[in-house]
Amino acid sequence: AQVPVVCVDGPTASGKGTLAAETARRLGFHYLDSGALYRLTALAALRQGFALDLAHEQQIAAMARVLPVRFEGGHVLLSGEDVSDAIRTEEAGMNASRVSVLPAVRTALVALQHSFRRLPGLVADGRDMGTVIFPGAPMKVFLTASAAKRAERRHKQLISKGIPTTIDVLRADLEARDARDSQRAVAPLKPAQDALLLDNSEQSVEDSVAQVLGWWEARQ
Ligand code: C5P
Repeated sequence: AQVPVVCVDGPTASGKGTLAAETARRLGFHYLDSGALYRLTALAALRQGFALDLAHEQQIAAMARVLPVRFEGGHVLLSGEDVSDAIRTEEAGMNASRVSVLPAVRTALVALQHSFRRLPGLVADGRDMGTVIFPGAPMKVFLTASAAKRAERRHKQLISKGIPTTIDVLRADLEARDARDSQRAVAPLKPAQDALLLDNSEQSVEDSVAQVLGWWEARQ
């Protein structure tokens, strides 16, 4: 039987991660945070001393193909080291965005992403889950929120973790990342043709989860 996949794509800080993880929990499905794989690849490459550019595309892709990653109880391990916090910084996000424009790196991560598709089902979040990685998925959600809202939410998150920053800096950062993600040649950020659009600018996480679960139920 086909293993069902729910795709949740959208821009930086749209709340995809929270929505996708909670939806997975409620459905009892597995969860793929594909952004984490790009963050890990960037971290691993920098640690090997590779600049994150076209000149190192093949070396970085070779590392991505055999990324020594394990997901354990909400923690992310790279070669056994807990890098859960290290990959969550703004800088790690920017670095992920840099490696993610390299076509060979994207190709190198395809098999790993497909390996998450296991019974009873998968909720996958990213930029190209519905367009490239799981194009035949029975349900695709494209989540958006205004840049102002996204910056505001990210600001709250970082401040609560004791990381000093300002809304303006964050907004500029995420608009730069949106631009790079939307304009790249390979697998740009865009809704799949059959995606359901969800704008959560004025919606709580709980309401968004309820919306997605409602859509899912309606299809069963
Ligand atoms: O979702 P997250 O913020 O963790 O993603 C970090 C970066 O990885 C994104 O800005 C994007 O450039 C890249 N990415 C991607 N394709 C995905 C997931 C993430 O290109 N499926």
